[in-house]
Amino acid sequence: MALTKSGFAVVLCAALFAAFCAHADDSPEDINKRVGNGNPVDGNDKAALCKGCHGEVGISVSPNIPKLAGQYAEYIQRQIFNFQEGTRRDTNMTEISATLTNRRNLADISAYFASQNMMQGMPVKNDEGERIYLEKGCMNCHGEIGKGKPAYNALFPVIGGQYKEYLVKQMKDFKTGARDTDISGIMGLLANQMTDSEIEAVAEFLSGR
Ligand code: HEC
Ligand code: HEC
Repeated sequence: MALTKSGFAVVLCAALFAAFCAHADDSPEDINKRVGNGNPVDGNDKAALCKGCHGEVGISVSPNIPKLAGQYAEYIQRQIFNFQEGTRRDTNMTEISATLTNRRNLADISAYFASQNMMQGMPVKNDEGERIYLEKGCMNCHGEIGKGKPAYNALFPVIGGQYKEYLVKQMKDFKTGARDTDISGIMGLLANQMTDSEIEAVAEFLSGR
């Protein structure tokens, strides 16, 4: 039986994740939009290597490894290009990305992770983090709770529900310029205005969304 992408999302939702389908970010329509042009069914097998670190359904095995569950497929692809081009570096990902030269495979793998229920954290309260998130205008691009804004704009990654440790490292990489992937330069500017403890606070706030 050949399933279309939209068919896949509907079946997946109905069969496996009925309980989650009420979640605002995980309606079949939401999932279809963030999946992009790849085929998540094909991506399931192709993602075997990735799952070793990023987890079977995109909930990674360690807080230093980002969750990819429900991340925008186009954003995932763009980061692989960034690792290939060297605007972003990581011992593992630089090497792995260099082998991901087949666009169809990359689109399918990205679609697979994008089709999962969107990452969510354990509730944690951090008032200072929340204040910084509002004051610095993070929500203007990343949405009120870090799930993206406007919905489906793959320019802005999902950061709500991501691991704190990973978020802290990214903010520090933006600060030092080790990660130079944001063409607008805004992430570098914002990170530079923040102290390490402010970065910790906002990362903790986000991790619980
Ligand atoms: C050995 C472990 C490992 C494997 C295998 C692995 N990754 Fe990663 N991945 C990482 C780590 C660690 C990071 C965080 C790098 C950093 O700190 O910037 C990462 C980051 C990423 C990011 C950036 C996410 C974001 O939110 O910006 C993407 C996308 C990604 N990996 C995709 C993949 C794909 C696709 C595969 C399979 C082809 C894969 N990874 C295999 C460890 C791994
Ligand atoms: C003007 C829009 C804009 C604003 C405001 C903004 N961001 Fe971003 N942010 C981006 C873009 C675009 C990217 C993706 C850059 C890339 O493609 O690598 C990003 C990436 C990130 C990442 C990396 C996510 C990942 O998965 O690796 C983190 C963390 C982040 N932003 C946190 C914040 C925080 C915290 C604030 C507020 C202090 C903020 N952002 C404000 C546009 C913005």
